[in-house]
Amino acid sequence: MGPSLTPARTPWWANAVIYQIYPRSFQDSDGDGVGDLPGVTRRLEHVRWLGADAVWLSPFYPSPMADGGYDVSDYTDVDPRYGSLADFDRMLRRAHEVGLRVIVDLVANHTSIEHPWFRDHPDWYVWSDDVPGNNWVAAFGGPAWSFDSRRGRWYLHSFYPEQPDLDWRNPEVVAAMHGVVRFWRNRGVDGFRIDAADRLGKDPELRDDPPATAPPAFPENEQYAKLAHGHSKGNPSVKAALQAMRDAAGDAFLVGEAYVPAADYERYLGPVDVMFAFELLWAEWNVTALRRAIERALEQGGVAWATSNHDVPRAATRLGPNRARTAALLLLTLPGPAFVYQGEEIGMRDGDPADPPLDRAGRDGARHPMQWEPDPLGGFTTGRPWLPLSDPLQTSVAGQRGDPNSMLALYRRLIALRREMKGRLEWLESPEETLSFRRGRHRILLNLSTDPLELPAGNAVVVRTDGQDGATLPPDSGAILA
Ligand code: GLC
Repeated sequence: MGPSLTPARTPWWANAVIYQIYPRSFQDSDGDGVGDLPGVTRRLEHVRWLGADAVWLSPFYPSPMADGGYDVSDYTDVDPRYGSLADFDRMLRRAHEVGLRVIVDLVANHTSIEHPWFRDHPDWYVWSDDVPGNNWVAAFGGPAWSFDSRRGRWYLHSFYPEQPDLDWRNPEVVAAMHGVVRFWRNRGVDGFRIDAADRLGKDPELRDDPPATAPPAFPENEQYAKLAHGHSKGNPSVKAALQAMRDAAGDAFLVGEAYVPAADYERYLGPVDVMFAFELLWAEWNVTALRRAIERALEQGGVAWATSNHDVPRAATRLGPNRARTAALLLLTLPGPAFVYQGEEIGMRDGDPADPPLDRAGRDGARHPMQWEPDPLGGFTTGRPWLPLSDPLQTSVAGQRGDPNSMLALYRRLIALRREMKGRLEWLESPEETLSFRRGRHRILLNLSTDPLELPAGNAVVVRTDGQDGATLPPDSGAILA
């Protein structure tokens, strides 16, 4: 008998739409003004109705909330604000019942300073004896070292001082995180988003980062951007750390978050299935930049697309309403998993930051509560929301549900169509300042120019972002033809 030619089975996530839930802002169920897991359970219907395949939940673990939950003080429990482990199990069961997979966030690089590990296992962290170990700058600005008066030593924190970095060279750290992954796997989760994956590998000698010689690839804190981060992150040892998580995760889906250009993905891919394509998220709105961002990511062969998340201004704020619609069309026609951040499907805009801002790095804007109903509390809560609603009267799920030209209708249509979209991306010739590619029998067309674009004759228009039916596509709009 010859060799078996059975093709490898396509994994569930290969072209999945994964809906990002920021639990604090999704749905409150008990009137305390904070979203919670029973609220998530209640709203899974919406996610399913939208047509998504999975949800990713940002951290819901116990946390002092110095970084919106990305400062975890217990990896194997639920913060009482969000409910209990039983609520998590109920949510997971319900998700699976309605056909949604569940991905959780794995904040592997650092714990909260209030995690008992920091007290009981100081050798699981990175220390410097008498002076700050080097010139590294924290991602949100300021030195990456803070003094711990109890121990009389300096500890490393790649993010806020309340988030001490774990030392992934210590096998006990690897074993502990292995246990965390097993804990959630055993409860039935389908995947993990590995937070700050690039930080898991640091220069073993903690050498200084050299000065930057070029502007950063993406927007960064001004002080942080003065250095090139060749030593503080992305050390090749990162692969062993990720492999350890893969070993614990089995065949679960692993998506890595590293704030790096696509050219660096190879350091992460292998143990991790896909990396977030931040180059596309931040690409300037022109043909060259968008096409380059897509090509570079596709070349690396393991990419997850996103046009928005809880860390960046929302698409409608960054791009404006028409381009946000066109960006949605692009996002949902690219091959590979696509992430949709809650609220993007109704074109939510950034809200005002709290005064004083709750997030010191200025990310309140994209974290305002989800707007379900056109009423002042948006159907999010009956209490006092932790961050005010922004414009629920203008923008809400219920307000858009009956409108065939709404952003919601567009998202739903695009997600449904995506199921029929097969094959790799092939670029097509198109007029200047327009972008065109083929996916199987579908042709995608984006007009980025300031002039109307004549639609090619002889093709049926399956979706168009402008909601019109003329023979031309206006500037800042897109269409799918078949
Ligand atoms: C990731 C998260 C962000 C968090 C940071 C530190 O970038 O998306 O919200 O502040 O990691 O955990």
